[in-house]
Amino acid sequence: MQSQQGERQPEGIFGGPTSYGDPGFSRFLRGAFLAAAGYDDADLDRPVIGITNLTSDYNPCHRDMPALIEAIRRGVLEAGGIPFLFPTISLGETLLSPTSMLYRNLASMETEELISAQPMDVVVLLGGCDKTVPAQLMAAAVATVPTILEVVGPMLTGSYEGERLGACTDCRRLWSEYRGGNIDDGGITKIRHNLATTAGTCMVMGTASTMALITETLGMMLPEGATAPAPTGDRLRHGVATGRRAVELATKGPLASEVLTRAAFENALRVLTAVGGSTNAIVHLLAIAGRTDVTLTLDDVEQIASTTPLLVDLKPSGRGYMEDLHHAGGLPAILATLAPLLHLDHVGVSGRPLRELIDAGAAPPRWQEVIAPLDAPLGAVGSLAVLRGSLAPDGAIIKVAAATPTLLHHTGPALVFDSVEEATIRLADEDLEVTKDHVLVLRNAGPRGAAMPEAGSLPIPRRLVREGVRDMVRVSDARMSGTSYGTVVLHCAPESAAGGPLALVRDGDSIRLDLSERRIDLLVDEGELARRRAEFIAPALPRRGWRRLFVEHVLPANQGADLDFLTFDGEGGSTNRP
Ligand code: FES
Repeated sequence: MQSQQGERQPEGIFGGPTSYGDPGFSRFLRGAFLAAAGYDDADLDRPVIGITNLTSDYNPCHRDMPALIEAIRRGVLEAGGIPFLFPTISLGETLLSPTSMLYRNLASMETEELISAQPMDVVVLLGGCDKTVPAQLMAAAVATVPTILEVVGPMLTGSYEGERLGACTDCRRLWSEYRGGNIDDGGITKIRHNLATTAGTCMVMGTASTMALITETLGMMLPEGATAPAPTGDRLRHGVATGRRAVELATKGPLASEVLTRAAFENALRVLTAVGGSTNAIVHLLAIAGRTDVTLTLDDVEQIASTTPLLVDLKPSGRGYMEDLHHAGGLPAILATLAPLLHLDHVGVSGRPLRELIDAGAAPPRWQEVIAPLDAPLGAVGSLAVLRGSLAPDGAIIKVAAATPTLLHHTGPALVFDSVEEATIRLADEDLEVTKDHVLVLRNAGPRGAAMPEAGSLPIPRRLVREGVRDMVRVSDARMSGTSYGTVVLHCAPESAAGGPLALVRDGDSIRLDLSERRIDLLVDEGELARRRAEFIAPALPRRGWRRLFVEHVLPANQGADLDFLTFDGEGGSTNRP
């Protein structure tokens, strides 16, 4: 609640009374049950800091979360608050079927409602694995109490026969070698035991790393929080600082809706491009912005991506891992390097403008080789690009930094797969008629079709792997893992399940990718396309439950794939709604 002086007035544990028709009785009963839990009046006078608990056996990335929760709790207690832990859905990327993306919006709704329904003056949203942080930012955007994020931090690297290994760029690369017969069963077993050696999130520039950097850039996490590895004291100390700061936010704010400004999103897109970040972050940023009064579109993505060079040398587009970036100064060092391109007056949960944080000595140390200077970047501007054309009138994405340069201007015959399952079977078939010049097309994998699985980086046909082919042009309405690489056109919109142009492609049609023109085109005349469009039959709706609700309400990828009834309506946050 906001006081007349602009300071927030914490409501504490007796805020938002349970509705029994007698507020006095609600307060009495709440006090009685909390007394049973060991809280006395001195405890219950303090500002309440909610902390999300996403610990789950189904989420190995969050294995060390209990220790971090204890660190945050300590910070809260030291600063005079009282911590209240509560569980929310934990989305573990590798243990969810068919894809964690089906549940991002559900996690976000649950988080939003629990912040609104339970008494808390501030909430610390503690996440990590890919979809958890986007879901939390989407919830934060509409929260009516101040919100601060913390992440579990990246894993440390492993090794195999002298080579550093990291999840999951090396997972895909080495699995591909195994499929092609270049690694034996013993080798792949050793690799499996050394790819993900500690607790924490994938330590390449995948979605979790990208979203952690974006969260810090947006100003929703304290500085230096994105890169500290999960098993380190740096991570725990950042947790303590987050707990302390959360208590200050109880009276000072800001709300996330005041932090998530256009300047914040533009800074985030700069960082996304400069780090060669995950294409998934584009969908997530569009969804987060969609919950605010900021209008963010693929045109903004293209405008900023096309004027921002690649600066950070991390896999999958480079060589290093998150621990290297952390030693090189982490996000503050990236921001200091990118400063001429950033909005430096932006203020986040630290309460200090970005300019001040950078002035505080954030420049990368001279000895490091992870962050390149702005005047000698690692790659030209445009490590991400937005494509349009007859195959994606509403837009598609390509991660240029992860593509093969010679394939970025390519025309070839289509080879079409109607589902991920069909592609899996046929691409493993040694007799599949395919050449390296084919364009592999996957459809029915957009938001409505299949909740956008990370299937867009289709495997290279097994026979071609044996022949040494490592990349081909691939086109789909799916996403791809931030850890993937290849010449992969993603997020084609409108999607095929909604009758988009991908639904009209037939085997043998010519498809042209032209990066210079930012185009992806199906070279079939309009008369023939009209005939095919008339034959289109939309897939059946799921019969019941969340999947039915999701398909009936999900927005297209170019609008963030949020649900249409969760986007900004000009009416404020969740507790303002009836
Ligand atoms: Fe959890 Fe990669 S699987 S971050």
